[in-house]
Amino acid sequence: ARAVAVVPAAGRGERLGYGMPKALVPVRGTALLTHAVRGLLNAGCVRHVVVAAPPADVEVVAALLRDADLPADVVPGGADRTDSVRRAFEHAVKAVPDVRVVLVHDAARAFTPPSVIRAVVAAVASGAPAVIPVLPMADTVKQVDFDGTVLATPDRSALRVVQTPQGFATDVLTRAYAEAGDSATDDAGLVEKIGVPVATVPGHACAMKVTTPFDLAIAEAVLAGQEN
Ligand code: C5P
Repeated sequence: ARAVAVVPAAGRGERLGYGMPKALVPVRGTALLTHAVRGLLNAGCVRHVVVAAPPADVEVVAALLRDADLPADVVPGGADRTDSVRRAFEHAVKAVPDVRVVLVHDAARAFTPPSVIRAVVAAVASGAPAVIPVLPMADTVKQVDFDGTVLATPDRSALRVVQTPQGFATDVLTRAYAEAGDSATDDAGLVEKIGVPVATVPGHACAMKVTTPFDLAIAEAVLAGQEN
């Protein structure tokens, strides 16, 4: 099975404090987004990539990917991540109408190993309507109230940290985006709201999301390891 990948990359990257959209921030000299798109295309199970870029940077992002010889369509993103995914996904189903598996992959998770990408696509291709990569929690998690007082300690063994790419049968994601009223922090969240089961596969530490300067330092080290 060959999937279409939708890449939300329209965030402003304010927490990274680099003064440019996160997608364009260099890691060992190459933009985060370039690493992410190359990773998807090199996994061998992705036939088309659609990137949602900051609206003011669509041309810059398109040129960046062209110069790296990475075929991808670039569309303007929206006000939040859900809106950006919606726009890129609409473009993707028009560009590749017969596609049956859709991946949604954060540009910020640029160093996701190909094995994770392939495992997600394979699980959807073999019949799961929705699949997400997850890791066990290393830390104990507390639920707190508005002033930070602890309310409860959820059982850690039943919690997972969630990564991308998240994979969906095309019709399931279409329905989730049509019926979901508001935004979610991940796409599986919208699928859960329409009552469709979401399966999990093992994620990987290298699929970490680059959000802060600390993450960027880790990403430099991860990439140095992958290049050697
Ligand atoms: O803000 P956060 O790190 O959760 O964003 C996750 C992903 O969603 C990033 O790759 C970011 O570029 C993307 N995003 C987007 N459009 C927005 C906000 C975030 O595509 N308006």
